[in-house]
Amino acid sequence: MKISSTALGALCAIRLAVTETSAESLNAMMKAKGKLYFGNIVDTNTLAEPNATEILKTEFGMFTPEYSMKWNFIQASQGKFTFDNSDKVVDWARKNDKQIRGHTLVWHQNIPDWVDAITDKASLTKVIENHIGKVVGRYRGRVYAWDVVNEVFNENGTFRNSVFHRVLGQDFIPLAFEAAHKADPNARLYINEYNLDFPGPKIDAMMNLIQSLQSKNVSIHGIGTQSHLTSNKTVDTVPAQLKRLASTKLDVAITELDIRLKRPVDDEKLAKQKQEYELVTRACLEINNCVGVSMWGVSDKDSWIPSTLPEFDAPLLWNKKFERKVAYKGVVGVLGGEPG
Ligand code: G3I
Repeated sequence: MKISSTALGALCAIRLAVTETSAESLNAMMKAKGKLYFGNIVDTNTLAEPNATEILKTEFGMFTPEYSMKWNFIQASQGKFTFDNSDKVVDWARKNDKQIRGHTLVWHQNIPDWVDAITDKASLTKVIENHIGKVVGRYRGRVYAWDVVNEVFNENGTFRNSVFHRVLGQDFIPLAFEAAHKADPNARLYINEYNLDFPGPKIDAMMNLIQSLQSKNVSIHGIGTQSHLTSNKTVDTVPAQLKRLASTKLDVAITELDIRLKRPVDDEKLAKQKQEYELVTRACLEINNCVGVSMWGVSDKDSWIPSTLPEFDAPLLWNKKFERKVAYKGVVGVLGGEPG
């Protein structure tokens, strides 16, 4: 049987990824350090990519669906729930003995027009409670944590303009958390945000919000700091900010880690990126209530960065040919393993 060069190339990349695996997986090494996981994203697109799936299975233990659990993928029209893709992801995780971080229940993006058009409190309250009840309830006992609300702040620390805030003010936040807690009392419930990596009004606003939610005994258990970082710009302050978030005594998790490099990418920038991945990994290890780190992608080929921020590239631990970068070896070094 003749094998095409493409298929042969893919098979070689898989063999390379598997045979080069360090003595232990990133996940096993992170757990040996007393953390819960080293995670990544997965969805039906990555599950269709053998090189990515092989690395996900070999290296990671916690998985965030990249899009299939978002509102417009699950309830695009009112009352019509589509769980096909999210079920595939949750079933894949169970079959491969992996855990899931649900993402995300209430977010200003990927909201269908029928939700955006709601103007009265009673209807929106009912819609939020129904959506969360159905989604969280379906995966009760099978999802470790949920990003219940995502990206509620503007960069200046004010609340972002969304249908949720327009109609309900800040009350949409406790409403969402209590609906999620009712649907799965054992799931860890997170607020998730980006650009908490440096001092400023956004992290100040987050700290104030957490204090207010805690004073009202809202069922919130963790803060997800996305950590979509820019090399040479927003990395050095990560340890201090993570510590500040951890001072709330809630769990903290790095939930969407990538470290983008300004194009053109060269060996010097890749070496700097290695040091930065080491710093961020060490920051979580050194904070008791930092439970884990999740990447936002496997290979530079599939990252959201180049298409969204075209002046940047190469944010992840595997390059476009699914070969492990020096940054990967840096993370393994910090975790005490020997890179293969
Ligand atoms: O799968 C559909 C396809 O069937 C359809 O033909 C196509 C055109 O509409 O859309 C495809 O879905 C896209 C999906 O990615 C899968 O590729 C959606 O349009 C697109 O909006 C979605 O983008 C995701 C984005 O969030 C918005 O949901 C990105 O993959 C995902 O990486 C990005 O992740 C976000 C986090 O959720 C929150 N933090 C920031 C992060 C990066 O933006």
